[in-house]
Amino acid sequence: MLGNDDKRTGVLFVCLGNICRSPMAEGAFRSAAARAGLDCVTDSVGTAAYHLGEAPDDRAIATAAAHDVDISGLRGRQLEAEDFRRFNHIFALDTANLFAIKAKAPLDGIAKVALLMDLVKGREGTAVKDPYYGDMKGFETAWKDVSVAADALVKMIARKIPAAND
Ligand code: 4NP
Repeated sequence: MLGNDDKRTGVLFVCLGNICRSPMAEGAFRSAAARAGLDCVTDSVGTAAYHLGEAPDDRAIATAAAHDVDISGLRGRQLEAEDFRRFNHIFALDTANLFAIKAKAPLDGIAKVALLMDLVKGREGTAVKDPYYGDMKGFETAWKDVSVAADALVKMIARKIPAAND
């Protein structure tokens, strides 16, 4: 979480249950940011309260692990007003959650709220499909989506941070 004196960019990923798509997005982004040497504050939440305190779905953990990313330590929590003050960017994994996020935004929030796939050329306006009721293929598709978006997001944030000799 960002304190007032923390200059790092804060990024929050939001899906419905916070056990499938947003933890995978958080894991993919943490991994992409680490590879790029970018120090961000990152978290994920759900708009619903179905899975508070729970670890990600086993299939999400296994999918991330297959790509060398460990998300097993993440725990479900629900979007709260304070998130809009602490994070610079809030990314929704689909349009229904984008509306749910906007409906919760307090007047004094600073976060820019957007659809995650809007970061990816050719995928603007589209969802990371919810894999919860499907099979492992859906989790792999979701992982690919969040990974492409994570790479685009790292580039976007890195561009805004001037080099030391600029
Ligand atoms: P997520 O997937 O929003 O990607 O975490 C879901 C997880 C759980 C439920 C729905 C979607 N559920 O209804 O419990």
